[in-house]
Amino acid sequence: MRTLASSTPPAWADRVAGSLDELLVDHAHCEKKAAGTALRLLFSYPGVEFLQAPLAALAREELAHFEEVLAVLRERGVRMRPLRPAPYAGRLRARVRNGEPGRRVDLLLCCALIEARSCERFGILTAALRGVDTELAGFYAGLLASEARHHRDYVDLALAGFDEHEVWTRLEETAQHEAAVLAELREPRMHG
Ligand SMILES: [Fe+2]
Ligand SMILES: [Fe+2]
Repeated sequence: MRTLASSTPPAWADRVAGSLDELLVDHAHCEKKAAGTALRLLFSYPGVEFLQAPLAALAREELAHFEEVLAVLRERGVRMRPLRPAPYAGRLRARVRNGEPGRRVDLLLCCALIEARSCERFGILTAALRGVDTELAGFYAGLLASEARHHRDYVDLALAGFDEHEVWTRLEETAQHEAAVLAELREPRMHG
């Protein structure tokens, strides 16, 4: 994914390979959080007309992904359970500006980067699981395209109504920050 400032090291695939059940539970939480984030943006910006329909569609699709992961958990006999949230998203948003409209651009770009990272990692999982767990590999291959589309959707929403150069510069800065945040995490998580 061109937007990301770093590539996931091979050590990540090794780390999660031994904890696939935990990774799936974490993944379920990620999809639910993605739906919640899109909904929260809808509540935060009820007056920004162009955000309404795309964010509603994103929330709906993420919730459908959540249901798909729940079905995978059920099939594999893995219980959905609470997990201590990974510090990734919180740390990523620590640099979001307070004043508008910068805050809105930054929040949308954080979402864009989370989607890009999910997409990259689904790709890694697809390749790593091929031949090991064909069903799960197929599941991740199926999700890859939607996360790539979500990434583009969020970038487009950030660009709408803003200076293009400013948004691309901010995206680059946020991508550097995202890479630094991720480099410090060691847990077997989707964003760990
Ligand atoms: Fe998703
Ligand atoms: Fe997504």
